[in-house]
Amino acid sequence: MTIIDTRTRLAPYSTTRRQARTRHYVMCAPTHFAVEYAINPWMDPTVPVDAERATMQWDLLRHAFLGLGHRVDVISPVAGQPDMVFAANGGLTVGGRSYGARFRHSQREDEAEAFADFLRAQGLDVTEPTHVNEGEGDFLALRSMILAGTGFRTSLEAHIEAAGAVDRPVVSLELVDPRFYHLDTAIAVLDDGGGDSPADIAYFPGAFSAHSRRTLRELFPDAVKVSELDALVLGLNAVSDGLNVVLPVAAIEFAETLRSRGYVTVPVELGELLKSGGSVKCCTMELHA
Ligand code: ARG
Repeated sequence: MTIIDTRTRLAPYSTTRRQARTRHYVMCAPTHFAVEYAINPWMDPTVPVDAERATMQWDLLRHAFLGLGHRVDVISPVAGQPDMVFAANGGLTVGGRSYGARFRHSQREDEAEAFADFLRAQGLDVTEPTHVNEGEGDFLALRSMILAGTGFRTSLEAHIEAAGAVDRPVVSLELVDPRFYHLDTAIAVLDDGGGDSPADIAYFPGAFSAHSRRTLRELFPDAVKVSELDALVLGLNAVSDGLNVVLPVAAIEFAETLRSRGYVTVPVELGELLKSGGSVKCCTMELHA
């Protein structure tokens, strides 16, 4: 039997030089995590969740970030909000400006204020949203633009509102497969283009409408296209610092591709969170510099 140590960093075998930048993340412990309702196709309230295991897996993820030298702040979980562990959905922050979340489903509604209060307490200027949007679940920040998803959760109007709130150009992308209901399940930002190298992303083409696939091809002709197999273990729900990519351990082929492109892969097991349709990126809100 092969035992995969989740803290193992697997070295790249490409000569492409990648560079890490220290990041500032926000996470929320899965203290109240449960699958009590179904608002995406991954969720089945009849499948039991092991709360202790969820907490252990989440803590290993937190330690993976800390081990890579990143800052991780933790927001207090709110009782009665079983999905709050998915901190990415709590807002979008770029360059000291935040755009608050407004959840699609009533079950998550009350998380918005908790996240907005937290961001304000960090000294950030938070724009209250008038349109439905689920934060970094659907907004992926590159240095030069924000990639924004719509189709299931975040409204198209929110894309324009976000552009104003964080003062960045926004590119709208249409999601068409309900299994990939947030943009961060269909695209992984590998390099945000904030250093010496150009922006680099990976995506699953099948998650997008034909015109959005074309947009992605035009903007990122060299992007990694992942297989449905890797996408279905939420392999794209990964977090990169420009060099180290923390990703679900089951995304074997994707990890191999990443190493061939010069990235270091850091596989983690988040099987309990996957029962709610989330993985690494969903659990991580980045406050982008
Ligand atoms: N159960 C949660 C929901 O459906 C999962 C959210 C995952 N978050 C994300 N950023 N993709 O809202």
